Amino acid sequence: MSFDPHTQGFSTASIHAGYEPDDYYGSINMPIYASTTFAQNAPNDLRRGFEYTRVGNPTIVSLEKAVAALEGAEYGRAFSSGMAATDILFRVLLKPGDHIVLGNDAYGGTYRLIDTVFTAWGITYTVVDTSVVDEVKNAIQDNTKLIWVETPTNPALGITDIEAVAKLTEGTSAKLVVDNTFASPYLQQPLALGAHAVLHSTTKYIGGHSDVVGGLVVTNDQALDEELLFMQGGVGPIPSVFDAYLTARGLKTLAVRMDRHCDNAEKVAEFLDSRDEVSAVLYPGLKNHPGHEIAAKQMKRFGGMISVRFAGGEEAAKKFCTSTKLICLAESLGGVESLLEHPATMTHQSAAGSQLEVPRDLVRISIGIEDVEDLLADVEQALNQL
Ligand SMILES: Cc1ncc(COP(=O)(O)O)c(C=O)c1O
Repeated sequence: MSFDPHTQGFSTASIHAGYEPDDYYGSINMPIYASTTFAQNAPNDLRRGFEYTRVGNPTIVSLEKAVAALEGAEYGRAFSSGMAATDILFRVLLKPGDHIVLGNDAYGGTYRLIDTVFTAWGITYTVVDTSVVDEVKNAIQDNTKLIWVETPTNPALGITDIEAVAKLTEGTSAKLVVDNTFASPYLQQPLALGAHAVLHSTTKYIGGHSDVVGGLVVTNDQALDEELLFMQGGVGPIPSVFDAYLTARGLKTLAVRMDRHCDNAEKVAEFLDSRDEVSAVLYPGLKNHPGHEIAAKQMKRFGGMISVRFAGGEEAAKKFCTSTKLICLAESLGGVESLLEHPATMTHQSAAGSQLEVPRDLVRISIGIEDVEDLLADVEQALNQL
């Protein structure tokens, strides 16, 4: 029942990769191995390679293998949150004196981590619009070790040509890392396009039910993976086994959920685009989106995230946030339920005054998998209040 990427599809892999029913009870699901330590046959003679959960646990490893399979990766390492995964990846890839190229639209927490913790550590960074490949090219320095790309970006839904940016790293010591959280492995597989590593906040689409926080990094680079493994054990930011189980359970339905997220988002984006209260709909599935062609090339579909700018400015944006009845005002995204938020004062507050500042008339909507008629009715009644 193990996954063969050459003969099986994505949904089959998301259900079967990383685990086979065991010889003892034949449990259909990977058991939650709630054990900090594992009995040994003789000193340092391990039964199936496990000794202590901080350095490895079967439930966690099963999740790592499943996500790696879905991303077409050899290796995967799970962490306690997307930010823990980001922090460890930075620490593995960067040394004092190194330089990062960062997009001008990115998750606020990623920017804050670089701008506070890592600058204090002697790291410098240049912010560019990564959707313009020449801007990335011109920003690369001799000491650039990391190009950090989100695509689609959080929250402006910008699109970067992963393959073109990956080509820029050839012959340099820079690694391209793609934060694939908004797309999920169902819609986009950056390693196949030349990225060196992919990061997920599994808190979002992979978990999919807004009930578990986690992060994961996949790569085909064995040396990088060994360093990540060392940091898992050496630093300890691993997920709990209960969280790893919940995340793996969410992963099994990723494909069906993503298709419904995309179906709904396409309809809601079109509706928003038809309304006078809205000055711009930022959704890569719309033909008028500047990244539409590239998104169509590198993504299976266009995702479940939409950002909207309001003709009535910040006041209208905030009023919209408190006028929806079904779509809940809350941070986070990627769950089965629709959520909306005002990034400038919520998730991206830390980017205020920086090159990553988010326009104050912008609202981000995570379109859930409810009945689309109900979502459209809710959006319409909220717009009618502006
Ligand atoms: C694109 C992106 N990357 C990383 C993160 C950080 O993930 P976590 O909240 O799991 O630490 C987030 C969180 O919102 C995100 O949206």
